[in-house]
Amino acid sequence: MIPANLERAVYGMYATHALSVADRHGVFGHLTRHSGDSAGKTAAALAVDEDTLERLLLVLSSFGVLDSDGEGYSLAAGVRPYVDRDDPRCLMGFVDHLTGGTAEQFGRLSSYLDAGKAETDRETPAPFDAIYRDEESVGRFLNAMWGLSHHVSHELAALADLSGSRQLIDVGGASGPFSVAALSAFPQLRSTVFDLPQVAPHLAARATEHKLGDRLDFAAGDFFRDPLPAGDCFAFGYILSDWDDETCASLLRKAYEACLPGGRVLVMERLFDDDRGGPLATAVMNLSMHFETQGRHRTAAEYLDLLRAAGFEDGTVRRSSGDKHLVVGVRAESGSER
Ligand SMILES: C[S@@+](CC[C@H](N)C(=O)[O-])C[C@H]1O[C@@H](n2cnc3c(N)ncnc32)[C@H](O)[C@@H]1O
Repeated sequence: MIPANLERAVYGMYATHALSVADRHGVFGHLTRHSGDSAGKTAAALAVDEDTLERLLLVLSSFGVLDSDGEGYSLAAGVRPYVDRDDPRCLMGFVDHLTGGTAEQFGRLSSYLDAGKAETDRETPAPFDAIYRDEESVGRFLNAMWGLSHHVSHELAALADLSGSRQLIDVGGASGPFSVAALSAFPQLRSTVFDLPQVAPHLAARATEHKLGDRLDFAAGDFFRDPLPAGDCFAFGYILSDWDDETCASLLRKAYEACLPGGRVLVMERLFDDDRGGPLATAVMNLSMHFETQGRHRTAAEYLDLLRAAGFEDGTVRRSSGDKHLVVGVRAESGSER
């Protein structure tokens, strides 16, 4: 008999695609409003093919995403927020990114094994040239980042306690998942998202949606070429995991130079366990980082080393209840103009 863990690993691809297709056809919204509906009733309400829908519902039930009593289907306990497009915890934007972007890149892994990443990627565009290849793909990526980052950012902003900060610089802050959460919790704070120009309209839309006025602004730039704006708190959310150690060191050094004495840097990332035995999502995304970017995931100790090497002191690690955690470094009040 196939061990259960192996079976789930083998058939996992079906679960991701079934989630994606069900989401796109409104299945989760329907079952939220009409829990217990049969495949026939659901198919009629959504005007989709009943046979195909029932097969999808059976797959999702087998994976434990849905419960079934043999007749009707309902969302399994705890699932709703993560499949509900109106909930800030929704993961379906991220699932779009997996099926619409990540999936087609898996083939490169085999070439990496045979010829190495550098050789395989010789002709490949730089990570964000590929991810931002057209408007649709910019929007899809930024939606995925919002879905992954915004909800946990409320917790991360509270863990960081920004009550003593005045000017946040959200480096690669995307459409503002962290800035929006930080500004809503700390009324004295202002934030500048520093990011590539393609991001500007997406940040402006979020600033309007959250009624942040001029407390949230945008600085277009390339963090490899341009200096960072000055501030007393620098956020790096899911940035360092895109790059190798040397690049991370130079980005953190730039932040150190732009940071007011006594200011802080907030590194917000997935963390590997100390022995790198998990968590599962970190191990999976560490593989994804390999072909989607030039980065990797790290342990807390590795981030503390990077912060120290850039000049930041008093490194501390604060874990959230989600996948993204906080590592803080402080720029000393005086000294260390290196
Ligand atoms: C993985 S996303 C992280 C988004 C957000 N900070 C979060 O925590 O969800 C990486 C961000 O870095 C930005 N970025 C990538 N290369 C950049 C560059 N050279 N200069 C400025 N921003 C860049 C991207 O546009 C994107 O918003």
